[in-house]
Amino acid sequence: MVIPAEDGNRAPALRGEDLDAVSRETPDHRRIGSRWDAAHARRAGSQTLRRVQREVYGDDYFEDVVPNSFYHATLSDLKRVARELRTSPRHILVDLGCGSGAPAVWVIRETCARVIGVDLSGVGLEQARERARAWGVQERARVVKSDLCALGLKDASCDGAMSLDAIDVIPRAADRTAAIREAARVLKPGGRMVLATWEQDRLSPTIGPPRDPVSDYRPMLLEAGFEVETYIESPDWKPRDRLVNERILQAELRDELDADSAEALLRVARISLDSLESRRRVVAVAVRPI
Ligand SMILES: C[S@@+](CC[C@H](N)C(=O)[O-])C[C@H]1O[C@@H](n2cnc3c(N)ncnc32)[C@H](O)[C@@H]1O
Repeated sequence: MVIPAEDGNRAPALRGEDLDAVSRETPDHRRIGSRWDAAHARRAGSQTLRRVQREVYGDDYFEDVVPNSFYHATLSDLKRVARELRTSPRHILVDLGCGSGAPAVWVIRETCARVIGVDLSGVGLEQARERARAWGVQERARVVKSDLCALGLKDASCDGAMSLDAIDVIPRAADRTAAIREAARVLKPGGRMVLATWEQDRLSPTIGPPRDPVSDYRPMLLEAGFEVETYIESPDWKPRDRLVNERILQAELRDELDADSAEALLRVARISLDSLESRRRVVAVAVRPI
């Protein structure tokens, strides 16, 4: 059930004891974090990206969220997350790979639940904190610097989980399995997870370390103990992705970003277009059995 935003005051604040996350930062974590720090910073600095996403997404662009702050999520995706998680104001959600927090903040504003955002990017987490403050939901949002593969949250401490376009960026498939197992571990029995991720049929270039291709996430979800309630290709992802990347390539990014940032965005756009036929965005709703 989606509870209207004006009922937000009924949701209790998140307290320290709800969190209990241990963040032991390793050199690997710092490497991952700083790569994504750069990605979040360059997206936030690009008006072009904002314009392109708004033009291509049309009514499905979530305009009220600070622009460029999200990757592929549409308004329909967020409504699906809010609906499928079946939250109540007392519920604690976890957003796995929350980035700059736009999807999580939108979802708790709509549902009045509380959220713990987990990510390794300090820049992303700071943007998420700032966004929660700007939207007046800071009492119900906490962010934690932690690895998705070892969350540091207590067993069965969350009522729901969401993860948008984050699991697939973990380079090794075995670590993605570990991350999905972690999601199952921290969910209460009956807890629901909405996962948007990218299937990939073959290895493609990336701007970071190579990512093992995973062509179907259902075996990982089942192996982690989830029941897979829904597993669908994300509607319209392909024409949208094609148009966004074509327009990024035509845009004058070098006028607004430093040369390295512009080149990184252009390179992602080229790689995305080249791999369009060998990847798919999928959305799964998975449930931890009672
Ligand atoms: C493509 S962004 C998506 C961010 C956000 N979910 C959104 O839709 O805007 C992927 C995020 O995953 C985070 N990430 C990557 N590997 C991670 C790991 N091992 N542990 C925690 N976060 C990770 C990155 O820092 C980045 O913020």
